[in-house]
Amino acid sequence: MTRSAEHSPVAAPHPLDFVSLGKIVQIRERLLSAQAAGKVVFRFESGDPSFTPPAHVGEALVAALHAGKTHYVPNNGIPELRAALARKVSQKNGLPNIAPADIFVTSGAMHALNVTFGAMLTPGDEVIIPDPMWTEVAENIRLAGGVVVGVRLLSEEDFAYRAADIEAAITPRTRAIFLNTPHNPTGALLSAPELKAIYDVAVKHDLRIVSDEAYEDLVFEPYHHVSIGSIADADDTRIVSIFSFSKSHAMPGLRVGYVVTRDPVLQDRIPKLLRCTVNGVNSLAQWAAVAATTGSQATAVAMRDEYCVRRDILLNALRDIPGVRPFVPRGTFFIWVELDQSVYGRLEVADADALSTSLADDGIGSAPGDAFGPSYPDALRFSFSCDTAMVREGSEKLREALQ
Ligand SMILES: Cc1ncc(COP(=O)(O)O)c(C=O)c1O
Repeated sequence: MTRSAEHSPVAAPHPLDFVSLGKIVQIRERLLSAQAAGKVVFRFESGDPSFTPPAHVGEALVAALHAGKTHYVPNNGIPELRAALARKVSQKNGLPNIAPADIFVTSGAMHALNVTFGAMLTPGDEVIIPDPMWTEVAENIRLAGGVVVGVRLLSEEDFAYRAADIEAAITPRTRAIFLNTPHNPTGALLSAPELKAIYDVAVKHDLRIVSDEAYEDLVFEPYHHVSIGSIADADDTRIVSIFSFSKSHAMPGLRVGYVVTRDPVLQDRIPKLLRCTVNGVNSLAQWAAVAATTGSQATAVAMRDEYCVRRDILLNALRDIPGVRPFVPRGTFFIWVELDQSVYGRLEVADADALSTSLADDGIGSAPGDAFGPSYPDALRFSFSCDTAMVREGSEKLREALQ
């Protein structure tokens, strides 16, 4: 018996067919091959902190191992971590009425996004996101059957995510507004009044808000991070807040993040996704996260100061190059650079994509603007999460390459 192509399981489109593996991964592969071929490379393409976690974090992990804490753990997170995080988000982020039961420990913020959208969306539901945006947000919305609606951030407005633009993008299918502050890839930061305006739009249209705060500790003076959850009415459950240990405590490989939600529907659904995906995040990593949350935060502050030094080195290298317009990031470890068409002519490349590839061939990492959405094809993102010596040397090379 033959099957028509239409009914073939191979021919049928699958949600994963609409998810890419990402341009940044391709650039990284190119750099790693260049490195394997003996070239010196500058890892400006990816956001992997060069630091190791504070000593007390590693000690807690090893102590947990030696104490035999290697068994299955509760699905939503170990009670000690959920309690510590409930205190942390109440005291540091100002989120009202949070109990340990409102915390769901995930395998990084990536997994937090995955379970949040998976629990929230049904096929065809729209989610408004900033454009540009770190791609994986859009991919996780699509994976959950959702439809991404991008709102263009304007460089002349310092890449603010404006409530009026968000409201104009709302349709009857809109379910949620996603925001990310500090923002990957631009390094923009949302102020309390801007967040309040977004919150008011969400209330007016009865929408949920998903707030990705993975870079909460990576904010440069004189700015400071504000959680939208601290602005909401105390009894409002529309806000889902997402945090991570990857950047704040330099522990991306340990894979710990968390979702904070008081929404009873999400509280019912998220544990089901957690059970069917990880069935409890790595026990040792959770004990490390307890120590990271309850111990001294001095390392986090020192790391931020060092990132500030790196930011200035890279910014100085990018200044006063014709047609190259870097935005001074207020947070994150990224610099977003807009390019005039004249740059392509001068450097004999077709576009920013080709420029990123050509820089990778020279051992310099970058991520092209169109990896973050359709709004900024003429842009590159550079990361300064690699060590200071690499930032210093790579910045000189980059300046030479762009001039
Ligand atoms: C905006 C944003 N959210 C979430 C994440 C995920 O971080 P992790 O899964 O390491 O916690 C990243 C990582 O780069 C990010 O840039």
